[in-house]
Amino acid sequence: MVLNNKNKNSAKRLFSEAIDIGIGFKLQDAVSKKHITDEDIERIICNLPHAGISVKNILRDFKKDILPFCTNFSSRNFLGFPDAGNSIAALEGGILSDFLQQNLINQSFCAPAATFVEIAVLQWLREIVGYKKQKPKDIWEVGGIITPGGTVSNSVAMMLARENKEPGTLERGVVDPKSYQVIVPKGIGHYSVKSGQMWIGCGNNLLEVETNDFRYDLKKLKHTLLENKGKIMALVAYAGDSRTMTVDNLNAIADLVHAIDPKIWLHADACHGFSLGFSQKLRYKIKGIEKFDSISMDPHKVMLVPYTLSVLLVKNSENMKKITSMSDLIMQEQFAFGQITPFLGSKPWSSLKLWFMMKNFGKKGLDELITKRHNLAVYLADKLGKDSDFKVLNRVEINSVAFFYTGVDKSQIDEINYVNKEIHKKILNEGKFHLHQFSIPDIGLFKKGDVVYPLRFMCGNPNVTTKNIDDMVEYIRSIGRKIKRRK
Ligand SMILES: Cc1ncc(COP(=O)(O)O)c(C=O)c1O
Repeated sequence: MVLNNKNKNSAKRLFSEAIDIGIGFKLQDAVSKKHITDEDIERIICNLPHAGISVKNILRDFKKDILPFCTNFSSRNFLGFPDAGNSIAALEGGILSDFLQQNLINQSFCAPAATFVEIAVLQWLREIVGYKKQKPKDIWEVGGIITPGGTVSNSVAMMLARENKEPGTLERGVVDPKSYQVIVPKGIGHYSVKSGQMWIGCGNNLLEVETNDFRYDLKKLKHTLLENKGKIMALVAYAGDSRTMTVDNLNAIADLVHAIDPKIWLHADACHGFSLGFSQKLRYKIKGIEKFDSISMDPHKVMLVPYTLSVLLVKNSENMKKITSMSDLIMQEQFAFGQITPFLGSKPWSSLKLWFMMKNFGKKGLDELITKRHNLAVYLADKLGKDSDFKVLNRVEINSVAFFYTGVDKSQIDEINYVNKEIHKKILNEGKFHLHQFSIPDIGLFKKGDVVYPLRFMCGNPNVTTKNIDDMVEYIRSIGRKIKRRK
């Protein structure tokens, strides 16, 4: 059961079987092979066996009872999210990080070299968004942390904003939640900002500002800033909102906020959009992001890295002192990440996956990856734009195309919403392709402000070709026609 010198060869065979399963799975065309039923779930939530089972037999049962229902994010037909997790180098890093069991809470005894790999990765990422890159003398000069996801990264950013607004809240607690308001763009934000604000005791205090084409309406933003002056702790802007991947006017927002109230913490949720920094052609879109106090980024979404790996960068690294945890358990040593990573104690070496990936692609490979992915989305948007059966909701900013199957009837929004929801249900049931769906206010394609339910293409997988996209379009058309006929 436990690795030793006697069983190492049979263990190797078992590991290699797991790798075979993983490779076969990642390369299968189906998004999922079977749709899970109540009986399948019943079989999975079983009693723990009294006597242990061999790994060989567990693998046999796993292949039968679990694997067929798993969703393959790296299928060439998985076109709803970019989280393909199929970089060979990143997978290699993932395997090694599990084997090596370094704990990034402390440096000296449990992550002597791993800590510096993490620091290197954070400095590479600082560079691509235009933050100062440095060789830190201690943890207070690192200027970033690795977290388990964008939700945590955004929540930590809110905590930094809180301490910036009312220093010492960490110690004292929140007195008047109304003085910790957060400005967000209405209808397009990610829930993690609101949740983060509530998790850190600041209550549900969002100030939602109207948008134009999925960006802040700057006039209305100015009005909100002036009207609530003194009560705002943060403004959140998206470099790639979760739905359409629109990048906001980061420069203009930063300048406006600084002119009205320079004490407001500016946070850029760039979980997707930071990737544009790798592309010489597209980098201009995130200009101004370097003026923001903090930036969240999700390599596990956009850099082909297996889950989970998110990053929060802080422009002025000293700010991490405002939310530090001090204990004799978390060694007060020069480079202990435990001191600057809220919510986490023991911390896996996730950054190793990204370290392998970034070294493997290099600056040139990363540039190609991000630019090509954008071009693929432009291909789809152009194609749909010329096709009278479809309507496209957004301009391609990063890699997302939100669209509707409209068929012949292009005006009845209820009917179009119905048909597109039915198409989405059918896609999920069949498991052949994957597209995402969400609700969003219409920009005026049908009727401005009405809630619409587009299908959303968003892809990051370099294996996807225009042929996969063409097939997907015909697949949607054929489902759409049938649904219309049935009505
Ligand atoms: C813009 C944005 N921010 C934050 C998040 C949260 O990221 P995670 O799922 O890694 O917690 C998401 C997830 O989709 C997102 O799209």
